[in-house]
Amino acid sequence: MELPVAEERPVLVVDLGGQYSQLIARRVRECRVYSELVAHDVSAARIRARNPLALILSGGPASVYAEGAPHVDPELFELGIPTLGICYGMQLMALDLGGAVDRTGVSEFGKTSLEAEGGRLFEGVPEEQTVWMSHRDTVVRAPEGADVVASSPATPIAAFESPERKLYGVQFHPEVVHTPHGQDILKNFLYGVADAPATWTATAVIEEQVERIRAQVGRERVLCALSGGVDSAVAALLVHKAIGDQLTCVFVDHGFLRKDEAVQVVETFRGHFHVPLIHVQAEERFLARLEGVTDPEEKRRRIGEEFIRVFEEEAAKLGKIRYLVQGTLYSDVIESGGSENAATIKSHHNVGGLPEDMEMELVEPLRLLFKDEVRRVGAELGLPERMVWRQPFPGPGLSIRIIGEVTYERLEILRAADSILQEEIRRAGLYRELWQSFAVLPAIRSVGVQGDERTYAYPIVIRAVTSEDAMTADWARLPYDLLETISSRIINEIPGVNRVALDISSKPPSTIEWE
Ligand code: XMP
Repeated sequence: MELPVAEERPVLVVDLGGQYSQLIARRVRECRVYSELVAHDVSAARIRARNPLALILSGGPASVYAEGAPHVDPELFELGIPTLGICYGMQLMALDLGGAVDRTGVSEFGKTSLEAEGGRLFEGVPEEQTVWMSHRDTVVRAPEGADVVASSPATPIAAFESPERKLYGVQFHPEVVHTPHGQDILKNFLYGVADAPATWTATAVIEEQVERIRAQVGRERVLCALSGGVDSAVAALLVHKAIGDQLTCVFVDHGFLRKDEAVQVVETFRGHFHVPLIHVQAEERFLARLEGVTDPEEKRRRIGEEFIRVFEEEAAKLGKIRYLVQGTLYSDVIESGGSENAATIKSHHNVGGLPEDMEMELVEPLRLLFKDEVRRVGAELGLPERMVWRQPFPGPGLSIRIIGEVTYERLEILRAADSILQEEIRRAGLYRELWQSFAVLPAIRSVGVQGDERTYAYPIVIRAVTSEDAMTADWARLPYDLLETISSRIINEIPGVNRVALDISSKPPSTIEWE
């Protein structure tokens, strides 16, 4: 895996294939300590060269005895670097250091009560606490010289430590929210054991990135495609802070954004931050390209293609520009590059995927950051709250929430319904709790009666989901009163709609979007 490399000394999370490896790095960063993932087959020499503050071995789905199970360079444990093994990571440590691991026939999954007996990791946390377990194998003999410092009913060795060698292991998962004191335990390791300074703040990130951008681009001009989303917005602001008017932003407005969003992009960037901005109002072009198109993937393809065409036309007018800003995040770096164990599959390419033959060098100021850090940096840079906390929004926008053909009339109906829905969700204080909330316009009509008149009009479907990462999602249990308000407002205020339905499907087997 290509390491992004910040100036800070990192805490390296050795990825052993567990589903929580990224989460561990995020939790470490929440303690204001910079953290990166590395593949498990990294050599001890390479680790030493990074001069990490600490190592954390992640969990993993395998049994340490299974064929092909991931292992680490045993030299890692001889480097004198404070090391914490979590779940599989702990078992691997035990195995490599003269302890023993076995399948005792007792597995633990879910909330488990843990009893700690001393131990540096448990300083200041209750001796009895609930932790989250997920294991079949168990450490049955701690490494030589290590003290057992916690147990659970089924697992006598639920944590061990060897302070002289700076080696620590826990069977449970401190990184998940179901371990209420998990973050305290992590802090004990980071601050207490590893003596890590809490210096990784939004301000520090901004300073570091500004310097890097300046060093990379010098006096050259830089181009950035703004989408209205938080990633491109924060990337653009960082670059603008670094090099001012050497940056030009192009905002290709395909006309499928939510109500008032395009105006907000323009007001924020041009009006407030004084970023040189070209606003291309291309709604008609995009609508023309979608005429008669009903297939979802064909919509995406045409929008993507048209986007590139418009962007290239604008870029050509600006003359030769050497650099292009891209809002690549650390999770994209991990998922696309890197660790052979990562099971995640990136399912969508965003619109705004820019042409490969433009021959521009990339400036990627978010390459080190997780999404929540991008938001913090955005807030620190003064980006309006609405943009900082915007729910994910698909590149093709409302066009894939209009089932069947996208026409101007249907777009206006959906935009109005979506706007009411957003307004009421925000008013109810639920916007941030929901992963996504939006309206869908199906391609059917049904009978209704309004006044004394029979109507034959569209329904609107309300879709609201909770999720961690969009890979799975659950339909949100919105309060009935809120649903009633949304429904009656949509039906009363929007001609052309006479019915509102609620989507109560989870993902899988459904998807979040309807197309
Ligand atoms: P699904 O519908 O597959 O969506 O459950 C998962 C997440 O991806 C978003 N999505 C897209 N994002 N371009 C995007 O940039 C797309 O074409 C696209 N389709 C879906 C969706 O909103 C959800 O967050």
